[in-house]
Amino acid sequence: MRNFDEHNITEAVLGRVRNASDPRVRQVSEAVVRHLHKFIREVDPTFEEWQQAIQFLTDTGKMCSDTRQEFILLSDTLGASMLVDAINHRLPEGATETTVLGPFYVDNPPVAELGDDISGGAEGIPMYCHGIVRDSGGKPIAGAIVDTWHSDDEGYYDVQHYDEGGTISMRARFQTDENGEFRFWSIVPNYYPIPDDGPVGKMLGAQGRHPYRPAHVHFMISAENCEKLVTHVFIAGDKYIDSDVVFGVKESLIKALDHQHAGTAPDGREMDKDYAILNYDFVLSPGK
Ligand code: BEZ
Ligand code: FE
Repeated sequence: MRNFDEHNITEAVLGRVRNASDPRVRQVSEAVVRHLHKFIREVDPTFEEWQQAIQFLTDTGKMCSDTRQEFILLSDTLGASMLVDAINHRLPEGATETTVLGPFYVDNPPVAELGDDISGGAEGIPMYCHGIVRDSGGKPIAGAIVDTWHSDDEGYYDVQHYDEGGTISMRARFQTDENGEFRFWSIVPNYYPIPDDGPVGKMLGAQGRHPYRPAHVHFMISAENCEKLVTHVFIAGDKYIDSDVVFGVKESLIKALDHQHAGTAPDGREMDKDYAILNYDFVLSPGK
């Protein structure tokens, strides 16, 4: 076949990809072609604009490294990550809702003891964080693995300070006790901009958007016979709570800090300065 034009090119390409032997490859390829061609017809790009689009994707790829994943940021800021998350987590009633993993999780975080201070000496308002992990029947889960990580008082993760000699802090792995409880000390995190010095930052600027995420504490919780839970707890009252750049906020994940004056903390620790308590209980859904 030859003489392809704007009226017959879509069918011609669809005809070729239909030869894929794997049905999933065929389905995905057909969808890519249909939607891409529809997008091009709708946008009606000039040749220069199409070249700009290719340059944007090229720059996005070039920005990626072992420590920077610009394509994930692109997926996050276009709401694609949260859409994939939603489709894959049609959870039973009562299960804790999920949200994006983000690029700042580090595999095999340091193992800490319940009650430890994981702030690594970072400046900020001390925060006592605790809660119970339960299964969907309401039973506390002993021995659940609770990974947590969060930003500092200025909105930076520890990994963003590694170049200047920073070390691991504000992240750890705990195991729940016999009552399903986890507890640790750290500092109150702050809101922060996602890395915006690359093509995704330029895109946000061009779209008239800010690059901020509201303050949150990340949790990744796993236990036998349960679905792994990837979520955050957002701090109520944050100025970006209703405009998270990656669309990750869910009402059920917002929790107010309980501000306390210096004195004896719930775990018996004597605090010589004011501190905050963040209490959140998690419910894991049954494993598939
Ligand atoms: C985060 O919460 O760590 C995050 C999520 C998406 C993009 C950038 C950061
Ligand atoms: Fe985060």
